[in-house]
Amino acid sequence: MAEDAILGYLATHEEIPDSGQFASQHGLHHNDVVNVIKSLHGFRYIDAQDIKRESWVLTDEGKKYAAEGSPEVQLFLAIPSEGSIAKDELQKKLDPSLFKIGCSQAGKNKWVDMGKQVSRKVQHVEDKVKDLLIRIQDGQTLGKEDINSLRARKLIVAQTWKGYSVSKGPNYAPKRKKVATDLTRENLQRGDWKELEFKEYNFNAKGPPAEAGHLHPLLKVKQQLKNIFLQMGFEEMPTNNFVESSFWNFDALFQPQQHPARDSHDTFFLEAPSTTRELPEDYVQLVKRVHESGGYGSRGYMYDWKREEANKNLLRTHTTAVSTRMLYTLAKQPFAPKRYFSIDRVFRNESVDRTHLAEFHQIEGLVCDRGLTLGDLIGVLNDFFSRLGMSKLRFKPAYNPYTEPSMEIFSYHEGLKKWVEIGNSGMFRPEMLLPMGFPEDVRVIAWGLSLERWILVSSNETLSVALELIRLWDILVIPFFVYSN
Ligand code: PHE
Repeated sequence: MAEDAILGYLATHEEIPDSGQFASQHGLHHNDVVNVIKSLHGFRYIDAQDIKRESWVLTDEGKKYAAEGSPEVQLFLAIPSEGSIAKDELQKKLDPSLFKIGCSQAGKNKWVDMGKQVSRKVQHVEDKVKDLLIRIQDGQTLGKEDINSLRARKLIVAQTWKGYSVSKGPNYAPKRKKVATDLTRENLQRGDWKELEFKEYNFNAKGPPAEAGHLHPLLKVKQQLKNIFLQMGFEEMPTNNFVESSFWNFDALFQPQQHPARDSHDTFFLEAPSTTRELPEDYVQLVKRVHESGGYGSRGYMYDWKREEANKNLLRTHTTAVSTRMLYTLAKQPFAPKRYFSIDRVFRNESVDRTHLAEFHQIEGLVCDRGLTLGDLIGVLNDFFSRLGMSKLRFKPAYNPYTEPSMEIFSYHEGLKKWVEIGNSGMFRPEMLLPMGFPEDVRVIAWGLSLERWILVSSNETLSVALELIRLWDILVIPFFVYSN
């Protein structure tokens, strides 16, 4: 109602100078008009300017006189038009305060003779006070003198009146557009989504308070795995650096510089800072030598090793970069056997779709001790995976530049009734361990797998909830793929 009136009026008029007048001209409540103005202003259909006005309103006493007449007139009318009336008599006819005020005002006006007997002095009087009060009630403006006399008698009080002057705003339209808040199935079916105008997001609106928090299923599973490693006596490695140099991610792992995994199709290289600031120089020389000409019984790769290539920063493609750094520091100390693990994110430059992300979590474990054999690796893998609920394992020879021998790990999937690949493993090569400075009989056995992949193929019942959630979200189905040539 009020909205149609305002927008309609502005279609043919420059402005509404006063919302109060507008309301009374259109038979609307000013409150309703104000509310509509605020809302239209918010959507910039209109511009609105505040107006403040001092206005006068009747006090309770004023209202009473506006309805029943002023005390002086009531008193006058109570006196007979001919002859007189005893004052006591007159007093009885009127209420006490009315009588008192009436006497003094009628006296001032010289309408009556006051004595023991009271009589009229004029034939006829007009109730000017009542008329003025009614005019104020109607919102009319009065002269200063009238206002002052009514105010002195406490029949009116001042009140600030607030309203608006209104003109067209930048989004003005004669009718408010219905903006859609949701895209519905029906919109899509009917095709009317093309014409729909959508409500803008209100980024300042406060959302409902969160009633509870939940751990992400991946985090829950990560914790379960951590516990398994801890029970097996493994220590966690610090994995808090996603940015790594090619040196630690590849070169120190005896991965040749022309290896396909170093291609920017498979690895994210950093633009800034594009190179690492420092590397351990003595060790860099040893790594260079083992790549170029071998040593420790190896022929190496027999190519020109380039420092620039090793300096390049990247997002680590595997947590084996972390293991390498750990082994390097370990080799500097007097030898002691160690068991290490890590579970954290790694990044590979894959095109993202609904079943692939460019990152996933890698789980990695390693054992470092004198005289370890492939049998130790198979043993520790059987122990580890059976704790994960996979007790039927098979191993298949594989290739990694940094392990020899290397084995892919397969687990029998009872649901799928087939063998699925779950991880990769091996014994780190002497070309990797000896430049670090380990004693010759020290062996490192290690394995890695994808957390997401394991969740998907796992038949572990404690995981069913997590599994269900991940299936619902329809993401994170990441194949565990291994670099090899
Ligand atoms: N780094 C390997 C990968 O990304 C996993 C692995 C770790 C293999 C340790 C052998 C030893 O696939």
